[in-house]
Amino acid sequence: MREIHDVIIVGTGIAGLSAAIFLKEAGLDVIVITKESDTSETSTNYAQGGIIAWKKSDKPEHLAEDILNAGYNYNNREAVDFFVSKGPELVINFFVKKLGLDFSHNIQGEFDYTGEAAHSLKRILHYADHTGDKIQEVLTNYTKQLNIPIYTDHTAIDLITNNHHSNDKQELYRPLEVMGIYVLDNLKGEVITFLANKTILATGGLGNLYQHTTNPSAATGDGLSMAHRTGADIINAEFVQFHPTLLYNKDIERFLISESLRGEGAKLTDHEGHLFMENYPPLKDLAPRDVVARAIFEEMNRQDKPYMLLDLKSHYKGDMSIKERFSKIYHTCLKGGIDITQESIPVVPAAHYFCGGIKVDLAGRSSLKNLYAIGETSCTGLHGANRLASSSLLEGLLWAKSSADDIIENFQPIITRRLQSIPDWIQPANSIDFDPILINQDWKLIQLTMWNYVGIVRMKKGLDRARADINYYSHHIMKFYKEAVLTREIIELRNAVVNASIIINSAIHNKTSIGCHYIED
Ligand code: SIN
Repeated sequence: MREIHDVIIVGTGIAGLSAAIFLKEAGLDVIVITKESDTSETSTNYAQGGIIAWKKSDKPEHLAEDILNAGYNYNNREAVDFFVSKGPELVINFFVKKLGLDFSHNIQGEFDYTGEAAHSLKRILHYADHTGDKIQEVLTNYTKQLNIPIYTDHTAIDLITNNHHSNDKQELYRPLEVMGIYVLDNLKGEVITFLANKTILATGGLGNLYQHTTNPSAATGDGLSMAHRTGADIINAEFVQFHPTLLYNKDIERFLISESLRGEGAKLTDHEGHLFMENYPPLKDLAPRDVVARAIFEEMNRQDKPYMLLDLKSHYKGDMSIKERFSKIYHTCLKGGIDITQESIPVVPAAHYFCGGIKVDLAGRSSLKNLYAIGETSCTGLHGANRLASSSLLEGLLWAKSSADDIIENFQPIITRRLQSIPDWIQPANSIDFDPILINQDWKLIQLTMWNYVGIVRMKKGLDRARADINYYSHHIMKFYKEAVLTREIIELRNAVVNASIIINSAIHNKTSIGCHYIED
């Protein structure tokens, strides 16, 4: 089966759906695919904190300074300037004025801007503590209104290019060009050839490479791996950001305790109630994320404790009640037996955000013709060595707009004859069904290797060991992949081991300990 479209987008988070909206409104034939059955199963949906937005008393240069400080000046200045000058206003124009998203208000009836670590002022709009699911909801509703086709249960396998796939041998001598994606229909087990003039990867992050993560299970870095296999430039892959505060609870997995709790006064303590972030002046509990995550990790190791504590009840400074301001966190913690209005919250650091990715310019263009990457899978350079909190939703939105604008302005269809020279996918005969236990075991090995050797604190020896181990797993997994009946799970596993290699190689290559890439020796 094959289809031809103007634009194919992989991913239904803020970046993917916003790009689809801009393109469709300009009259292009755009489709979106997701490997999930539920289009809302995205990292966007789980974002709690909020989104940096325009505020009268803020200035682009102040925001730029905070981004550069958090990013250790490793940032791409062009991307920072673009973000601070165009981003905050876009939130108001797109979400508030166009899609009618009514962010939380304070008791004076004005927008309630909240603070987070390393922000010099409160400039983050939020929808209580479920900003992400509200954003996901308004985007999903609007894509439905526009009748944008979304193919659920469709897993991207590999990018199609003229050089790699065309039956016309002359294509081998032309510059490499992306022409779409081979995609598995998870339910039917068939591979569809989706040909497209422009391909946008908006596949999100890769937190699942680590034993502990705040990310949904879909975050396996599929776009990064596909782009790498095709030859796209990847940068800054050593910078994996760890969020300081994932809920530590035996019944509730992967639940983020938003940094905005500390933005509203909450303080970290050890089991004796000592405020250990006092040892990290001047910002203390509001120090950049990498500093706080490492402080918790070191305190856990020094005191031999499996978690530290976050005390909101004694230090909360907000206008609304805790239950109202942090309703999602309150109710979720309560399910785990913790009343956050009465007790401290057990927390541990966890893999949260990939600051590296597919190298793109201000228009989201990758190094490969016709391939765009937006959102977490891309690296615009905005975040440098460490991301400033609540900047990623806006980065996803802004680059969705700039890539859509670029496509709309420069749209040139690929000649049909060239698209027709792309063959359909051939599944090898006698493929084998693999036992899910084997796949699970390989995942565990990757996750432990990454957590122990390529995690919050790294050592040279550990990185070398990780490279050797991942090379070994990679050899087996690739063999396994070639023999297997294609499933979403096999595709994800193959992507994961490729991504682990990318991160480890970047980490070994960058000898400077900086930001999220913290080398102890
Ligand atoms: C949080 O609410 O702490 C997460 C926000 C972010 O990662 O930017």
